[in-house]
Amino acid sequence: MIIAIDGPAASGKGTIARQIAAVYGLQHLDTGLLYRAVAKAVLDAGYPPDDVEHAIAAAITLDPAKFQDIALKSQAITEAASVVAAIPQVREALMNYQREFATRPPGAVLDGRDIGTVIAPGADVKLFVVASPEVRAKRRVLELRARGEAADEQEVLADLLRRDERDSRRTAAPLMQAPDAHLLDTTHLGIDAAFRAAVDIIEAVRAGRKRR
Ligand code: DC
Repeated sequence: MIIAIDGPAASGKGTIARQIAAVYGLQHLDTGLLYRAVAKAVLDAGYPPDDVEHAIAAAITLDPAKFQDIALKSQAITEAASVVAAIPQVREALMNYQREFATRPPGAVLDGRDIGTVIAPGADVKLFVVASPEVRAKRRVLELRARGEAADEQEVLADLLRRDERDSRRTAAPLMQAPDAHLLDTTHLGIDAAFRAAVDIIEAVRAGRKRR
């Protein structure tokens, strides 16, 4: 089974994806980490994130062993990841890894922006997870503070909106709900309720398939 989970930053998709993978015994790939790793490689080498040539080279030579690096979550890399992600050749270079990951037994949950539309258009279940910008900003602030980082809610909100805009407006695989994706709005849901709502959707889709 392949489950595609897309949505904007801090919508809850990552947490839901992790929990769904654990419950269904599937592998999980946070595809944002790939773009973050490319961004980090470019910045570490001393180039700006919109340096197309170096971003493409970093994507082609990406080492999946580095995905767990905690530095990938920093604010500078968050911003830069959204910039390198708009480069079509960077996306292309990362495509095979994601597709192979998705099709490897026993199946996988992938979360990102273009999983249901580009990476795994034939996924068994597609979720598009959203939440209001204000709630997403609040969640991100709590997350940053929990890591000991200072965070101003208005600044975080502005960063999120800028990133949403860039991720949605780019021409290469923009953030978009696939026509057959199920919308899950987590604005008024805590982690447990959001997870249960996701399971309900997955089970309804599977039950519908069996009946056909
Ligand atoms: O999910 P995230 O915040 O870790 O993603 C970081 C950036 O990577 C995000 O701004 C957009 C980009 N991204 C993407 O373009 N496609 C994906 N499948 C995942 C992330």
